[in-house]
Amino acid sequence: MYRAAVLLVTLCISWHVALSVTDGLLPNGDFELGPKPSEIKGTVVTANNAIPNWEISGFVEYIKSGQKQGDMLLVVPAGAHAVRLGNEASIKQKVMLTQGKFYSITFNVARTCAQEEKLNVSVSPNSEPQDWGILPMQTMYSSNGWDAYAWAFQADVPEVEITLHNPGVEEDAACGPLIDSVALKLLSNPKRTKDNLLKNGNFEEGPYMFPNTDWGVLVPPNVEDDHCPIPGWIVDSLKAVKYIDSDHFAAPKGKRAVELLAGKESSISQIVKTEINKIYVLTFNVGDTGNSCVGSMAVEVYAAKDRTQVPYKSTGKGGFKSAKFVFKAISNRTRITFLSSFYTMKSDNSGSLCGPVLEDVKLVSVRRPRRHL
Ligand SMILES: *[C@@H]1O[C@H](CO)[C@@H](O)[C@H](O)[C@H]1NC(C)=O
Ligand SMILES: *[C@@H]1O[C@H](CO)[C@@H](O)[C@H](O)[C@H]1NC(C)=O
Repeated sequence: MYRAAVLLVTLCISWHVALSVTDGLLPNGDFELGPKPSEIKGTVVTANNAIPNWEISGFVEYIKSGQKQGDMLLVVPAGAHAVRLGNEASIKQKVMLTQGKFYSITFNVARTCAQEEKLNVSVSPNSEPQDWGILPMQTMYSSNGWDAYAWAFQADVPEVEITLHNPGVEEDAACGPLIDSVALKLLSNPKRTKDNLLKNGNFEEGPYMFPNTDWGVLVPPNVEDDHCPIPGWIVDSLKAVKYIDSDHFAAPKGKRAVELLAGKESSISQIVKTEINKIYVLTFNVGDTGNSCVGSMAVEVYAAKDRTQVPYKSTGKGGFKSAKFVFKAISNRTRITFLSSFYTMKSDNSGSLCGPVLEDVKLVSVRRPRRHL
């Protein structure tokens, strides 16, 4: 009896250890463990292995929350420490993964200087040549300067090295993105069901979200990340879309939704198998985040030769309406695209972009289309 209990405890512990890397912060992913006093000069880290679990190269600073830079106060979202990557600096960490599976990295970033800043996210080894993501940080979406970004990849081998690199060459070498909280999530591959021809239509599967932050996760466009962190979907616009959760935003139904936050530059699509001349019915919810995003919004939907526009008037307090779109397939594969018609800014003077929320998308084929027209 006692032995069984001990065994059970041991099993639980090892199960937790194995899980901690696939779904949550990387070891020392919040940088709370810092360099020894002998391995830091002012804020500059002087040894490559000084930050536990990480290997650094170039001009990397270890920043304490509340530290001042000029007249700017640096605030760190999780815990009390973060790192800043200067020109061409990088941090990397090796992780054990399941070969062949898809993973998504999520991290918090803030710009610290006025220039355009970028981050280069990559994993190695990688069988796809030049498979890295250059994520621009110049557009701030959140009000407090921090944004979370996701980037997905396939693990080609059981041990991969995750690298975050600042490819910038600014006049001030210390200018560069501030990084905090690097997490990883194993992405499952949701299946189509009898009730929904779309994969992951309710967006419930997606990148890791930090429970203690309320700014959602930016999912970069396909041109910056060809493995979408929201399985089944493609962000085929120029700008990111935002992945949000019902704990911090009003997601009409379910736990997760997508905010189309950059007008027509924010769109999300899925390609589905269809039968030529068959009629399909798409249903979905359009709403607002309940986060001071006020105004007249509209979501446009395109499929085959058909399109529709669903207007939505947001008071910024959260709400939604359901919409229906009927189309006739003209090919054995149909791309279904959602985009936001207008740019909207938050009414809190932050200048942050925001937009309509899309949720619970379902697609079915119908035998008696008349009933739906
Ligand atoms: C991005 O990072 C990868 C891996 O570190 C590197 O090979 C590549 O040259 C970098 N790309 C740019 C544009 O800096
Ligand atoms: C789908 O259509 C393309 C071209 O129209 C054709 O090459 C392909 O074989 C078709 N696939 C199926 C499964 O019917």
